[in-house]
Amino acid sequence: MTALYGNRVVVTGGAGFIGSHLCTRLVERGSEVLCVDNFYTGSRQHLAHLLGDPRFELLRHDITFPLYVECDAIYNLACPASPVHYQFDPVQTTKTSVHGAINMLGLAKRLKVKILQASTSEVYGEPRVHPQTEDYWGHVNPIGPRSCYDEGKRCAETLFMDYRRQHNVPVKIARIFNTYGPHMHPADGRVVSNFIVQALTGQPITLYGDGTQTRAFCYVDDTVEALLRLMDTPADFTGPVNVGNPEELRMLDIAQCILELTGSHSPLEYRPLPADDPTQRCPDISLARRELGWRPTVGLRDGLTRTIGYFDRLLSSAPAGRGEGRGREEIAAGR
Ligand SMILES: NC(=O)c1ccc[n+]([C@@H]2O[C@H](COP(=O)([O-])OP(=O)(O)OC[C@H]3O[C@@H](n4cnc5c(N)ncnc54)[C@H](O)[C@@H]3O)[C@@H](O)[C@H]2O)c1
Repeated sequence: MTALYGNRVVVTGGAGFIGSHLCTRLVERGSEVLCVDNFYTGSRQHLAHLLGDPRFELLRHDITFPLYVECDAIYNLACPASPVHYQFDPVQTTKTSVHGAINMLGLAKRLKVKILQASTSEVYGEPRVHPQTEDYWGHVNPIGPRSCYDEGKRCAETLFMDYRRQHNVPVKIARIFNTYGPHMHPADGRVVSNFIVQALTGQPITLYGDGTQTRAFCYVDDTVEALLRLMDTPADFTGPVNVGNPEELRMLDIAQCILELTGSHSPLEYRPLPADDPTQRCPDISLARRELGWRPTVGLRDGLTRTIGYFDRLLSSAPAGRGEGRGREEIAAGR
């Protein structure tokens, strides 16, 4: 595919789960990639295969501080995405979304280049509209434990649209729904990684609530494909556009699928729902289908099998105590 923009691409948060796959795809299609990351949740190991490549460069930098580099396009993914990580230092989370957006938008404005924001379905909060379309304004708690992330991302969207209206910066906003795949953090508390690590280590599978709340999970390759396509849209297309898999699944069914694929005998263990945890979340992807010609192509069983393979290797490398720097027991215990 020929990119519509120049070849030097900045990816903030490129050492993270989605960012590392995006960097790989960009290098594969001939871009020169500058990955900018402060390694808050990301890891160099996710990029090990790119480190010797002359088209790839890795810069330790916190985007809450200004960045002065030259490039032709910016993907802004930097931000911890899982509740355990973004709630650990909520002020820093908001700063990353808001100050980080201002800094990266400032760079895009100076260079007159396209910038894409990795926004989130969390901007819809506990939705009153189902499935969620992009014109739904959301139902979000501004003062709860998840607000640093949800409201930070909402404010970032505001900034992106105002830089567009006020300074004519070519912006793109992707509202990403739950994504899963290799390079997820084993202790991020997210459904798929949690269930897989628990199943592989024989621990109980923890279900919150009664397990009937639904989520729609998109495999990371599909999510990355949507981001690439969105960046390649004409300058007048800004989004926001939903990126996710509309196939709605109950937590209970996902747990059972993982138990079957891993051959695990872990029991199910029910716990109370955390505060502000949305009970139902599903994207309407009509806009992505129409404007990006995109839809998810990787089925759940296929995606889960690939993800289980990744965690299996990660845990197998751990007995010596060195799986992502932690021992098997520590990974399993979420430390
Ligand atoms: N994974 C999902 O299901 C999902 C869903 C919706 C939106 N998103 C968004 O996609 C983006 C990537 O998510 P992810 O799942 O890969 O998360 P992740 O935590 O794996 O990656 C985030 C990356 O950003 C880096 N980072 C955090 N703060 C930074 C800062 N101040 N300066 C520089 N780097 C910083 C981290 O070190 C990490 O490498 C995030 O913006 C997230 O909000 C993800």
